[in-house]
Amino acid sequence: MSLRLKFNLVMLITLAIGIGLAYITSKRILEDNAKQEVLLNADIMMEMAKGIRGYTVDEVKPIIQAGGHEEFIKQTVPAYAATRNFERLRKRFPEFTYQEATLNPTNPAHRATDWEKGIVDYFTSNPSATEYSGIKETATGKLLYTSHPLRITNPKCLDCHSTPEAAPAAMLELYGRENGFGWELNSVVGAQIVYVPMSIPLERARIALKIFIISLTAIFVFIWLLLNILLHFVVIRPVTRMAEQANLISKGQIDVPEFEVKGSDEIASMASSFNRMHRSLASAVKLIKKQRTTTVRSK
Ligand code: HEC
Repeated sequence: MSLRLKFNLVMLITLAIGIGLAYITSKRILEDNAKQEVLLNADIMMEMAKGIRGYTVDEVKPIIQAGGHEEFIKQTVPAYAATRNFERLRKRFPEFTYQEATLNPTNPAHRATDWEKGIVDYFTSNPSATEYSGIKETATGKLLYTSHPLRITNPKCLDCHSTPEAAPAAMLELYGRENGFGWELNSVVGAQIVYVPMSIPLERARIALKIFIISLTAIFVFIWLLLNILLHFVVIRPVTRMAEQANLISKGQIDVPEFEVKGSDEIASMASSFNRMHRSLASAVKLIKKQRTTTVRSK
């Protein structure tokens, strides 16, 4: 097996092991990062929804009321403002879905499913928890979700959610007296949940992984080429020449020119040793030839 073949085989094995290890370790990290990034986006969206809720009840509703509007205006309902705003946001990010899963909702469309009740229960039994996230298996694939508790912290919320008597009459006409009441200050009434298909972070991770592996391979191939060129000029070429010269000398061509010594590396010192050996051999051969001719003459 030639030196070049041995060297390239070792490089190839190193490349395969290196790229394989990089793939395995970075795949997990990149997927986790992509999930965290998507969850962070979802968190921001939920905080926006919460912000709009507070804004509507604290700033919009008082102005409308001060204007003498007695009738119930749905635009002053925080949940309406929050969900309408999210609908607009979804035009740009259609993959995100927002739910206000509530145990006893004013609008039945917001009633928590059995699975969502589990999340609300978690927040009720863990009052210090501010976030809960995970992966949900569905018939259409895996969903990544994150949730925040819907806790009643603003007393103004109870204007419409404490008792039917306290709520605007027009609201009762629309939503009835049965649902969405009896909420208490500081209690958890539901959970804001944002769902995103798992394929979104996985696709982001796949693209990042592809770029990473391609650049790693490119760097490796570049180094491989460079080392091959170096191996050729620094080792293989001088050693082959020296071997050819040794071959000629061994066949009796003592007068071949001396090997050109370049630099001061190991190959150069081998070349000067080789030249020294060549010279001693040449003078030894000359001496033998001379002795032979004098013996012949003296006979
Ligand atoms: C002006 C009356 C009013 C006020 C004040 C009000 N809400 Fe509501 N709330 C409603 C109505 C009406 C709905 C149903 C909206 C719909 O049809 O989507 C609702 C819906 C909700 C929902 C969605 C679940 C459900 O019941 O359908 C949550 C959660 C909610 N409100 C929480 C709050 C919080 C928190 C506050 C205080 C920041 C608040 N609300 C203040 C009237 C009000």
